[in-house]
Amino acid sequence: MNKNIISHEFYITKKQRNKLNNHTSFIIWFTGLSGAGKSTIANALESKLNDNSIHTYLLDGDNVRQGLNVDLTFSQEDRTENIRRIAEVSSLLIDAGLVVLSAFVSPYIKDRMLVKSKVKDINFIEIFVDTPLEECMRRDTKGLYGKAKKGLIKNFTGINAPYERPENPNLRIDTTKITINEAVHMILNIIEPKLKNI
Ligand code: ADX
Repeated sequence: MNKNIISHEFYITKKQRNKLNNHTSFIIWFTGLSGAGKSTIANALESKLNDNSIHTYLLDGDNVRQGLNVDLTFSQEDRTENIRRIAEVSSLLIDAGLVVLSAFVSPYIKDRMLVKSKVKDINFIEIFVDTPLEECMRRDTKGLYGKAKKGLIKNFTGINAPYERPENPNLRIDTTKITINEAVHMILNIIEPKLKNI
């Protein structure tokens, strides 16, 4: 860090923003294979939270990799940089008083742990969307698994790049066994007491 950058003390704090919003702010981090259902669950959850007057923001590949992270590939180093920038943005959004929902493959444990340490442990809820690879390949909503199997995409998670499963997620969801609605309710059960803990 440049030693000539000296922080100015802000007048309004996260605590005051949380008070104004009448709820706390933290991050709900969705990890899992492409096509597992991360963004679908995150969107359904965000709708429910919005109905309940909770201030939210959803970050996913669609709004981040086409803008802020448009310069990044899917190499291991670039995925790490992708997640590092998302951690920094998320940290600002949490400070702004928002409940952040982040849906990224984030295949490396160390990258997810970096987010956790950036936003602090108590502000990090990890949801492992554990849809089996066979099911993600069967769905192949974006046609990417088909291309990856033909060798047209390199470093594709689950095909020719690794996915490191979370060791101790707050919740594991297999979308072949439970519905989106059930998943949303399971997450709401975890976060409702936390939201009120201002
Ligand atoms: S991450 O690994 O860096 O966290 P991120 O969640 O941003 O990945 O982007 C994943 C999305 O990009 C996938 O859902 C898929 O649509 C698309 N994608 C394109 N190339 C790849 C690839 N090589 N591996 C995984 N996903 C890819």
